[in-house]
Amino acid sequence: MEYIKKKLTIDKVKIEDIAKKFGTPSYCYSYLELKKNINNFKKNFKSFSPLICFAIKSNTNVNLIKEIQKFGLGADVVSMGELMMALKAGINPKKIVFSGVGKTSDEISYAIDKKILLINAESKSEIKEIDKIARIKKKKVQIGIRLNPNTDAKTLSQISTGKKENKFGVNEKTFLELINYCKNSQNVSLECLSVHIGSQILDHKPYEKMLNVVDKIITKTKHKFKFIDLGGGMGIAYNDNSKKLNYSKYNVAIKKFLKKHNSKIIFEPGRSIVGNIGFLISKVIYIKENDKKDFIILDAAMNDLMRPALYGAHHKTLPSIKTNQISKKTYEFVGPICESTDKFTSLHKFQKLKEKDIIVMCDVGAYGMSLSSNYNLRPKPTELLIKGSKIKVIKKRQKHKDLM
Ligand code: LLP
Repeated sequence: MEYIKKKLTIDKVKIEDIAKKFGTPSYCYSYLELKKNINNFKKNFKSFSPLICFAIKSNTNVNLIKEIQKFGLGADVVSMGELMMALKAGINPKKIVFSGVGKTSDEISYAIDKKILLINAESKSEIKEIDKIARIKKKKVQIGIRLNPNTDAKTLSQISTGKKENKFGVNEKTFLELINYCKNSQNVSLECLSVHIGSQILDHKPYEKMLNVVDKIITKTKHKFKFIDLGGGMGIAYNDNSKKLNYSKYNVAIKKFLKKHNSKIIFEPGRSIVGNIGFLISKVIYIKENDKKDFIILDAAMNDLMRPALYGAHHKTLPSIKTNQISKKTYEFVGPICESTDKFTSLHKFQKLKEKDIIVMCDVGAYGMSLSSNYNLRPKPTELLIKGSKIKVIKKRQKHKDLM
């Protein structure tokens, strides 16, 4: 994304033109950036060639997943819907792992029928349920057990998952018990230890700690795990001055771990693959002047992009055409929804705006559209993919009649 002659462009395509042709609000993704992210991810860990399972929850667009599939990635799914979507996009079932604390019998049954690589179980009750269903189907099912390593990921509390107070995984004591349970079962075969300590992690040290915990437990169990699934969580820079995750230190820590334990590493990245490839293009409907700040009322709202309202997340916000006039007043960018949390950001010294101007919010490729809703009966935006010189509609804008 860059300004060319004061006009904001994505892969050389002018945002103004996209807004004119496809309307607003619209999600727009860059194929070039997607390709770069996947190739970088692979390069960072190339010495042990991990199985990379894209976390479908971060972006569920079937056409985007199809593109991701072409790079040989698998999928991490957390519901029957996501599993169906991964299969629809052509992902090889032998590259699909199923995570989540509350898989229903129907979901387990479907996953077994589809012969996916692993069901990563998160409790004793779930393992018993998998065992029971597999017995009825006369199948032997490969499973993993998710360990809760009680490691602080040093990220937002709402997206931390690896501490003992979080609902995810099982503690060491239960983990050891469950290994014995699996040994005595004819229908489940324990092949994987999985962990995922949180999301938007920018410090490599929590990963090192997590690997130490995993190392100690495996040594204690003496069980041979074919796979170690380290989850996702790799953070991205939402601000220009943000810290960046040191992949090379994470890579070194894993290589050290692999010297002791010869397993295939699985990753489940979402944000690091699609986060920075997405832009939300919207239009200023009205500018409402107020004492200390002006409200910039956009046609995008919290139903389209939930992260600011849900986590206080900040997304870089830019005008589609640069001028040199700066507003003296603070701008508060809001949507039309009847909630005070329907607010994206407050910015000082932003360029002076007028009604109908086009505004772009950046880095919304992950947990943007996938967290969207129809709140206030607002139709969901269209999704576009810029690939080469073409702009493809990869999901049509919802119509009001779809909602009636
Ligand atoms: N694996 C498991 C088991 C997960 O729970 C998650 C994310 C991932 C992988 C992918 O994590 P990533 O690489 O994308 O960080 N809605 C929040 C993020 C929630 C993440 C939930 N789990 C946000 O907008 O920041």
